[in-house]
Amino acid sequence: MSETAKIQLGDEIFEFPVITGTENEKAIDITTLRAKTGYITLDSGYKNTGATTSSITFLNGEEGILRYSGYPIEQLAEKSTFLEVAYLLIYGELPTKAQFDHWTHKITRHTLIHEDMKDFFGAFPSKAHPMGVLASNLISLSTFYPESLDPDREDSAVDLTIMRLIAKISTIAAWSYKNSVGHPVVYPHNKYNYCENFLNMMFSMPTEDYEPDPVVVRALDQLLILHADHEQNCSTSTVRIVGSSKANLYSAVAAGAAALWGPLHGGANQAVIEMLENIQRDGGGMQKWIVKAKDKDDPFRIMGFGHRVYKNFDPRATIIKKSCDDVLNKLGINDPILELAKQLEEVALSDDYFISRSLYPNVDFYSGIIYRAMGIPTQMFTVMFAMGRLPGWIAQWKEMIANKEPIGRPRQIYTGATERPYVPMAKRK
Ligand code: ACO
Repeated sequence: MSETAKIQLGDEIFEFPVITGTENEKAIDITTLRAKTGYITLDSGYKNTGATTSSITFLNGEEGILRYSGYPIEQLAEKSTFLEVAYLLIYGELPTKAQFDHWTHKITRHTLIHEDMKDFFGAFPSKAHPMGVLASNLISLSTFYPESLDPDREDSAVDLTIMRLIAKISTIAAWSYKNSVGHPVVYPHNKYNYCENFLNMMFSMPTEDYEPDPVVVRALDQLLILHADHEQNCSTSTVRIVGSSKANLYSAVAAGAAALWGPLHGGANQAVIEMLENIQRDGGGMQKWIVKAKDKDDPFRIMGFGHRVYKNFDPRATIIKKSCDDVLNKLGINDPILELAKQLEEVALSDDYFISRSLYPNVDFYSGIIYRAMGIPTQMFTVMFAMGRLPGWIAQWKEMIANKEPIGRPRQIYTGATERPYVPMAKRK
């Protein structure tokens, strides 16, 4: 007999089906709740609300498991490449050799952006945050490719938009950096692979050749893999909601980038380094910051700590922490900020406040230290995250369209004034 859940309201009992996922996750299907009872559910921050069923990413926060389409993140980080993982997320299977060759060939050849877009970069203030520049340019792409405006077009048109996005985001990201330092932009070059090309556009100068370091290239590829999807997080849910109105894919991912920017989400990687620099400037003592983090009247939080879903450890953080040591060793960099991060982690993880709330380092705690070692400026960290997350946003958007999901439109419980007559201004107190 299939499992059901019962809700009692007054004397009446209502039954709802229980849905079970392939990993035995359970949900009460309340699709008919309002129609049957007149009630809605209230779940601020959607802490208990499943917005969709999805076959893209499996995450078990209690056991620290993360898998893309069944493949453990640890294996993908070690053996795969970012473009291969992007294909896996978007099309559901690892590509054959022929599929992968076609995919990388197309992405490599779509990295140029329209020359008119170059003017956009110059129009932003030189100190513009690159996330603002990135999000604006992502939505601008829709104006250059109007054929992308209908998300229900045949698959080949959608595939072209997908390849354009993955190709062009690296150029937009690198150019937003070049603009921020007032240097001429560097055009993409087809002789490079995805990460080499990005690094070349970031660091090549008219005055000096740049040779991408294989250690840096591999570390970047791995970071992008680790960020590539994370099921229904804040930015991905934003992408699905925007896409559910049938807005085009460019606008949906631009909205995702905007959501990612916040320090409680992808902006945390920038915030972690700024926090560690503050601690360093302040003399390096940890206790003061632990006390501040625990004080409910103080807005300070340990950035890069805690996660809505992981309540044991974040498997991505485990991989990144190890990679951080490897990369700094191989590059011969001795960054005192890494030492501070390790000390802060040690102090926090032995403190009852953090233990009792299951607060552990998340993906952002160590990623910024690797980006620093690569020479990527702090303000660009969230842009790096967006580049990595783009395939996940696209995959989730594609799934939402394929499933013909209805427009996302939550309800509310109204708590404002009840009906009252309009008061003319002269009579207002
Ligand atoms: N430092 C100090 N206290 C914290 C922290 C932190 N980083 N994170 C959570 N807490 C405390 C809260 O104050 C709360 O305490 P209380 O129960 O006494 O009120 C408790 O732990 C639970 O925290 P919530 O904010 O309710 O948990 P939620 O799931 O809503 O938030 C979040 C998760 C936003 C990630 C939070 O842990 C946080 O702000 N972390 C710092 C920012 C960060 O690193 N964000 C990146 C997340 S990963 C990502 O998006 C890629």
